[in-house]
Amino acid sequence: MAQPAQFAVRAETGDLTVGIIGLGYVGLPTAIGFHDAGFEVWGVDVSQRTVDMVLKGENPTGDPDVDDIVPAPGTERWNITNSSAEAVPHCDVVLVTVPTPITHDLKPDLSYVAAAGRDVFRAIPKGSNTIVVLESTVYPGVTAQTWMPIIEELGLEIGEDLEIAYCPERFNPGDPAHGVRQVARVIGCSNPDIGEALVALYSKLTSEDVRYVGKLEVAEAAKVIENVQRDINIALVNELARIFPALDVDVEDVLSAAATKWNFHRYTPGVGVGGHCIPVDPYYMIQRAADVGVPAGLITAARAVNRSMPSHVAGVLSDLMWNAGVAAGEAKVLLLGWSYKAEVGDPRETPAEPLAETLMSKGIAVGAWDPHLEDAMYPEGVEVVSDISSAQGYDMAVLVTAHKACLALDWSSLAKQMRTPLIYDGRRVLDLEELKSCGWNTFAVGRPV
Ligand SMILES: NC(=O)c1ccc[n+]([C@@H]2O[C@H](COP(=O)([O-])OP(=O)(O)OC[C@H]3O[C@@H](n4cnc5c(N)ncnc54)[C@H](O)[C@@H]3O)[C@@H](O)[C@H]2O)c1
Repeated sequence: MAQPAQFAVRAETGDLTVGIIGLGYVGLPTAIGFHDAGFEVWGVDVSQRTVDMVLKGENPTGDPDVDDIVPAPGTERWNITNSSAEAVPHCDVVLVTVPTPITHDLKPDLSYVAAAGRDVFRAIPKGSNTIVVLESTVYPGVTAQTWMPIIEELGLEIGEDLEIAYCPERFNPGDPAHGVRQVARVIGCSNPDIGEALVALYSKLTSEDVRYVGKLEVAEAAKVIENVQRDINIALVNELARIFPALDVDVEDVLSAAATKWNFHRYTPGVGVGGHCIPVDPYYMIQRAADVGVPAGLITAARAVNRSMPSHVAGVLSDLMWNAGVAAGEAKVLLLGWSYKAEVGDPRETPAEPLAETLMSKGIAVGAWDPHLEDAMYPEGVEVVSDISSAQGYDMAVLVTAHKACLALDWSSLAKQMRTPLIYDGRRVLDLEELKSCGWNTFAVGRPV
């Protein structure tokens, strides 16, 4: 790698080779973005399926925005491999976009960050001063705490062989207005010159603001609190959606009224929070706070509220069915949408799963229809409905994901296919009056029965 000033000049002209480790929801569009910006790109993934699909110009992720943009086989400056050892020696800068999930006991799982870092560091040529940037979401301290022991063990020198930095990804899959080329970026690095050099690089990727914000931990913390804030805001409306129906008030009416005030921020309640960010990242912050002995009561309470929404809704659904005379032991619920969010074929951490599990634990059969998902993506026990016109004999339909395809359903036909035409809007997006005129008995999260 050149000196930082030269690096910045080369970034300006596209004369750098960029490696991306992990070609998932974040890494693949990032690799395509840098390629489109004129850089030589090396993409690496340990999944052979992913490598094979990308090499064929196919999209292995469930993000439809990537469907038609994967470079065709043989495209210049586009190199894909399953080997960091092959890719990294070509690269001036390596971006690591691997998963950061939680373990079954809700603790951060940093094994992917450690393993990917080790593979990259082993392949760095001595004296190359390659810049390695972690983009995965982590808590403050992870980049240095996870990578420095490996760097030291391998006998590599910061400032000679490599530099490390952190630049969180903030794009929103399935939302073309907030893709990798449209979101602002923040860069953390203990070396300000490297930080500024990376500003020059990322400014070629995104049209939005790119900023060096100081040490690694500032950028790490910024990302995690963005998602903590969303989790807390959503938890508040979810809690209100449980309180207000008990007071015979519709939470949406309250939110509409409150939103007339200039500083009220409106969020919508739902059956639960899904995905690999919002229901995961707060646990990273909770863990870090616990490590330093500081209570994180608010973050923990918000997580508990959102985590309990699917089982709360399952209880409401079963009561509604019993009140409608559906016989216990015969009840059947149809979930409309399974992905954790609209227009994306991604079932990770979807609230549909705990919702279905809780219903099934009550002896209620569960079917699910989601035009964005393949049949193999559903857990055992759920009856997969591939063709909605063949869904028959259900007692309750539940809108779980506001996919356009779900909203555009032929509601009159579906009402006739039901054994009991009960519908529950779990996203507060349906026109309940219109559904009533189609023969449905309507209910919604946060609305009095
Ligand atoms: N998806 C999002 O909406 C989003 C948005 C912002 C930030 N993030 C964060 O970005 C990170 C990546 O998320 P994602 O959704 O892209 O995950 P993903 O699971 O879609 O992709 C990760 C990819 O990394 C690959 N991988 C795992 N270990 C590897 C290794 N050692 N070497 C090479 N490849 C490896 C996996 O095979 C997979 O293809 C996470 O930290 C996530 O929290 C995600």
